[in-house]
Amino acid sequence: MSNALEHIAIIMDGNGRWALSHGLPRTAGHKKGAEVVIEIAKAAKEMGVKYLTLYAFSTENWKRPKDEVDTLMSLLRQYLSKDFDELNKNNIRICFIGEREMLDADIQTKMSELENLTANNTSATLQIALSYGSRAEIIHAVKQIATNVKNGDMSIESIDEKSISAMLYTKNVPDPDILIRTSGEQRLSNFLLWQLAYAEFFFTKTAWPDFTAEELKKIVSNYQTRERRYGQI
Ligand code: IPE
Ligand code: IPE
Ligand code: MG
Repeated sequence: MSNALEHIAIIMDGNGRWALSHGLPRTAGHKKGAEVVIEIAKAAKEMGVKYLTLYAFSTENWKRPKDEVDTLMSLLRQYLSKDFDELNKNNIRICFIGEREMLDADIQTKMSELENLTANNTSATLQIALSYGSRAEIIHAVKQIATNVKNGDMSIESIDEKSISAMLYTKNVPDPDILIRTSGEQRLSNFLLWQLAYAEFFFTKTAWPDFTAEELKKIVSNYQTRERRYGQI
């Protein structure tokens, strides 16, 4: 028996430590890490994985030193303008989840343009979590539901898992089957708290800039040996 696999979510961690261990500035790790994004997105598509969600920048990451945030934003600008073309050529749809109003206006425009450009791509969907925090996402959903109830558009009785999922940024995407975190840390750091309820977790010591399609394949074959019970027997 094999487990269905539609969606892989990855916390891409360890860029800074990877760089320092190579005697490079932290920003060099982010640069290498961004290249790995393209490789892994293509590999996942080739493996038949329909959805890939990558945690690129958290709401808490805004608190990092300004020069690191600035470098991350300029890398993002570069990828949005040019490097993601390759994913478009691979028929991959790109969408973003998170608090986009926190990002500079030109970045927000580029994000919408890329979403529109790739909207009809059908091979796979790459969801990039940018300025994303799961608690912020849940607060947003609760406010929306409360407003709907107040306006009489929704009854309290009708609030269920489905209606809450439908209010999240991830509303059009099934919950992840696999969560991977690189770099040895074993925590969620405010990522997809609701959506990961029944995901299978994999923690690897590999830093994100060293993560490969080969390692992804190993994780997927290990996943196939796991028994997902969903509380049943
Ligand atoms: C992940 O790498 C990328 C971002 C959070 C933007 P880090 O920058 O967290 O690298 P470490 O964990 O400090 O090594
Ligand atoms: C989580 O990594 C966020 C991203 C990978 C984008 P962090 O490096 O920010 O998380 P903590 O601080 O180790 O929990
Ligand atoms: Mg980190």
